[in-house]
Amino acid sequence: MWRADGGRGSGGETVDEPDPGTGTRPFGPSHGVGRHRHGDQIHAHLEPHPHSRGSGSTPSVGIVGAGAVGTALGVAMGRAGWPVTAVASRDSGRRERFRSLVPGARAFFEPAAVVDEVELVILTVPDDAIQFVIEPLRLYGGQTMLHTSGLLGAEVLSTALSAGSHIGAFHPLVSFTSDLERSIAGLKGATIALEGDDSIMGMLADLAEALGGVAVRLPRGAKPAYHAAAVLASGGLVALLDAVVTLGAAAGLDERGALTIYGRLMEQTLANARANGVAGALTGPITRGDVDTVEAHLDTLARLAPGVVEMYLAAARREVAIVDERGALSPEQIERVRAALAKVP
Ligand SMILES: NC(=O)c1ccc[n+]([C@@H]2O[C@H](COP(=O)([O-])OP(=O)(O)OC[C@H]3O[C@@H](n4cnc5c(N)ncnc54)[C@H](OP(=O)(O)O)[C@@H]3O)[C@@H](O)[C@H]2O)c1
Repeated sequence: MWRADGGRGSGGETVDEPDPGTGTRPFGPSHGVGRHRHGDQIHAHLEPHPHSRGSGSTPSVGIVGAGAVGTALGVAMGRAGWPVTAVASRDSGRRERFRSLVPGARAFFEPAAVVDEVELVILTVPDDAIQFVIEPLRLYGGQTMLHTSGLLGAEVLSTALSAGSHIGAFHPLVSFTSDLERSIAGLKGATIALEGDDSIMGMLADLAEALGGVAVRLPRGAKPAYHAAAVLASGGLVALLDAVVTLGAAAGLDERGALTIYGRLMEQTLANARANGVAGALTGPITRGDVDTVEAHLDTLARLAPGVVEMYLAAARREVAIVDERGALSPEQIERVRAALAKVP
């Protein structure tokens, strides 16, 4: 287990151990990454790259896909002193926007042009498009290609490999939206999951640090669960907020008002969970076995906000499981709550 407080789990792998293969210094959420020397390989091109800097400094960077992540990373890296010299975008408006935001970047239509220009290629296209985008691409020796998917491993880039090139994944646990400055600010203190060749880990840790993030190297095979949790924490929270705001409207609140008053309750609940654990933070009618209250809610939702019923039920079933685990209600009380929830088609 790896733990975000940097401590050890009850067994298994940790991410805060020094990597014996690369000799890179320990990195983990509580330690931060510290400065790492770049692995030698990142600048030791077997087949020299035409634009190789060979200086041992930060590599030249190119971004493929000028969407939310690509643009925010390009701007943030430029501000952090990483030379972003190329971008590929299929859209002329996005190409121009990127160029205006990242001085010194040349803009191309074709990803292959970026590969010809830079030492570090970062793919920021949708997960489903990665295979399609890299299909015609081959790296030069010494080059590195990364993607930013939270789900996929580095190996999805393997068809682009040539002798002496490297692949990896660089996933910031940040919600990147069209609000560029908020997205960039979100990088500060954010966890950034690294994956890929040992020889590029030092460089990726340097990059994470330059962006203000905290690098972690996830245990092998952990990414799908790690990413599903992230999607629940961000997209799931937005879906929950949408349901809360919908119900707030039925009670006469506008969105701003609902976010103000329920947002405060959500923040208090999060603080309680941090202080006392998730199960300890649960309050409300289900913890008391108040079946009549639950039924009244379901009746109200069916009339005023039918689109919210499914989410209320899913959350309530999860709450029943937590309460059951806590042992605070009798089996009969638990059964009555479950039966009330089961009545809804
Ligand atoms: N958004 C987040 O919060 C977040 C957080 C961490 C990681 N990620 C990961 O970062 C990656 C990019 O996500 P995003 O949110 O930035 O997506 P996005 O805003 O939709 O941008 C993706 C960009 O990829 C290009 N693209 C889209 N479809 C393509 C295709 N079929 N072929 C080639 N290029 C295509 C487009 O750029 P052009 O039109 O400019 O070519 C598009 O703007 C994904 O792997 C995602 O999982 C996202």
